[in-house]
Amino acid sequence: MVADLSLEEDTAIVAERLASDPHLILLVNNAGFGTKGRFWESAIEIQEQMHQLHVMATVRLTHAALGNLTKRNSGGVINVASVAAFVRSQGSVSYCATKTWMTAFTEGLYLELKGAGSKVRVQALCPGFTYSEFHDTMGADRSTLAGAAMWHSAEFVVDASIAGLRRNKLFVIPGWRYRLITSLVSKLPSAVRLRLETAGGRMRAKQILEAQEAARQLASG
Ligand SMILES: NC(=O)c1ccc[n+]([C@@H]2O[C@H](COP(=O)([O-])OP(=O)(O)OC[C@H]3O[C@@H](n4cnc5c(N)ncnc54)[C@H](OP(=O)(O)O)[C@@H]3O)[C@@H](O)[C@H]2O)c1
Repeated sequence: MVADLSLEEDTAIVAERLASDPHLILLVNNAGFGTKGRFWESAIEIQEQMHQLHVMATVRLTHAALGNLTKRNSGGVINVASVAAFVRSQGSVSYCATKTWMTAFTEGLYLELKGAGSKVRVQALCPGFTYSEFHDTMGADRSTLAGAAMWHSAEFVVDASIAGLRRNKLFVIPGWRYRLITSLVSKLPSAVRLRLETAGGRMRAKQILEAQEAARQLASG
């Protein structure tokens, strides 16, 4: 089905199908995008679109799918969040916030399903940097973001997700480096985390300025 999930009317059509399809096994709330730039300096339409897509479409589609799946007591929902759910980041305020919401939402559903004795599974998939069209759409240069060891293929992420679903794992964080980082970050006192994130933001801003200057020099010969 072709649908723009940032639009309520399109989302409602997909939800209707999810609610009524007797063969539904798995819903993957995967559609998403990132933005660049400070929250108040970027267009409000893009910020709202992100919340519609990551939050409202996830609510609507998950509600429709779970109504169907719980009746048959099988199947599952995978919500594609991000390791960004564990941090806050300058230039990605809404992205981190909506992905954090996705993990909290999934955790709540996990508890309700367990509490109801349901066999339906839910997963918050939290990938790190993954090769896809994501950063092209965003207009971000991959080489300025992280070294090669921090990048995974989409296949690696999907394999980890499916293996996690088989074991009914709530949080799936593909790659040991990301599991280590997220576990360390979540143990930090918030004052320390905020200091690190402030310094990280300054470093990223400097790298972007340097890359822009290098591109300008190249262009001017
Ligand atoms: N790549 C990463 O490093 C990374 C890391 C962590 C988490 N994630 C998450 O992984 C998920 C998948 O992203 P990806 O890496 O595969 O990026 P991608 O290659 O850019 O794919 C994003 C997908 O979302 C769809 N989409 C975007 N806006 C939509 C809308 N309004 N309605 C319907 N579909 C829409 C796109 O459809 P069209 O192609 O038709 O536009 C595309 O199929 C996202 O939720 C992203 O936040 C990605």
